[in-house]
Amino acid sequence: MRSLIKHVLTRTEATDSLEVAGWVRTRRDSKAFSFIELNDGSSLLNLQIVADANIPGYEEIHKMATGASISVKGRLIASPAKGQDWEMQASSIKLLGAVPEDYPLQKKGHSPEFLRSIAHLRPRTNLFGAAFRIRSRMAYAVHRFFQERDFIYVHTPIVTASDCEGAGEMFRVTTLPDDKISRDSEDFFEKRAYLTVSGQLEGETFACALSNIYTFGPTFRAENSHTSRHAAEFWMVEPEMAFCDLAGDMDVAEEMIKFLVKEALDGQDHDLSICEKFVDKTLRQRLEHVVEKPFQRISYTEAVKLLEASGQKFQYPVKYGLNLQSEHERWLTEEYFKQPTTVYNYPKEIKPFYMRLNEDGKTVTAMDLLVPGIGEIIGGSQREERYDVLLENFKHHKIDPEAYGWYADLRKYGTVPHAGFGLGFERLLMFVTGIQNIRDVIPFPRTPGHCEF
Ligand code: 4AD
Ligand code: MG
Repeated sequence: MRSLIKHVLTRTEATDSLEVAGWVRTRRDSKAFSFIELNDGSSLLNLQIVADANIPGYEEIHKMATGASISVKGRLIASPAKGQDWEMQASSIKLLGAVPEDYPLQKKGHSPEFLRSIAHLRPRTNLFGAAFRIRSRMAYAVHRFFQERDFIYVHTPIVTASDCEGAGEMFRVTTLPDDKISRDSEDFFEKRAYLTVSGQLEGETFACALSNIYTFGPTFRAENSHTSRHAAEFWMVEPEMAFCDLAGDMDVAEEMIKFLVKEALDGQDHDLSICEKFVDKTLRQRLEHVVEKPFQRISYTEAVKLLEASGQKFQYPVKYGLNLQSEHERWLTEEYFKQPTTVYNYPKEIKPFYMRLNEDGKTVTAMDLLVPGIGEIIGGSQREERYDVLLENFKHHKIDPEAYGWYADLRKYGTVPHAGFGLGFERLLMFVTGIQNIRDVIPFPRTPGHCEF
């Protein structure tokens, strides 16, 4: 059985018989032997192979170029070379897959744009290998955070008839041939169906039965945003808590972000170091600061006042009643508070129908968590749990009360205060890796005009 190089390199004893396999990073030949740096993607680290010219398989050594796949049997010995504890003295070596000369990943550095065009090969580079290992580990940490706190994982549907955010940014799902599709055409489901923009509404039904739940899955937005933080397909983490208000919601969001950032700091020494080296020299320091200091909280009204008084020349206007733009969010977190900041109680006009109306009759219990370098990473709210007020909201937002009768039922039958939020998983990954483009933390990014694979 082949051993993963990650485990080989953390062994405490030399061993006589071992088999590893991977892709050649580099090879250096001398007359009597070759050195190969071998990587299998289990970690950033390479295992150095020493292959004497007389071992079986050596006759194909010239084909074992950067990118070729090989397997090696041999023994692990203490390495005389600096910077590594172990190396492998090969007893046999086997070429599995050669590479022609046009292998796109050569030793030199490649631009992120070029690497995006070869998304099927980029996980083989150091930075992308690290980014996607961190992605896996963070996904596991999300589950750990909620499972350790007795939240129940609910699989909300990917195909849905509801538009949670009411923004009309849904991808239509249909089996009709192109020339038969019209606005009103109905086919497989006998009604119009879409890819979900959020699991929240269905999540609420489960919170109103099981108390604390979360969903974590793909969501889709047909918004024509050409920015470095929007994707058409992204993953969202959405907890929903019964018997919870806005303050409780903000507490869980802060605790979760701190937990996940700490996980990133603790777990992945080598992977985070690569991000530090290639992307952001101050990454670790920045993340430590996030874990140590409490987050800021400020109402939307106060935030607007601060922005107006800032003397900054923003591209977009700042005015009570307008949405905060990314440049405003970044000023608040990067220039003013220098720490993640939760903005709450937004004007009702700029938020969706499901948010709870405050006593002032003007604002709703919305909250957005903003972080330095990115802006909004979480959006959430306490939900409107009053039946009559919800029905009013339906009217105001031109929502068909019949289609959302099931949602209103939660308010009719044993209603409870409840709250939740959505964390954009890719934005979290951008935050903990320092990687500045969302396309570089998604294995196969989908953005306007791009669905290559
Ligand atoms: O603020 P949003 O739209 O909130 C909701 O969808 C709520 N239903 C969530 C809830 O309360 N359960 O989206 C939540 C988060 C944003 O803060 C952002 O991090 C991320 O999802 N997000 C995107 N990430 C990447 N690409 C996009 N196009 C995104 N749109 C939202
Ligand atoms: Mg939002």
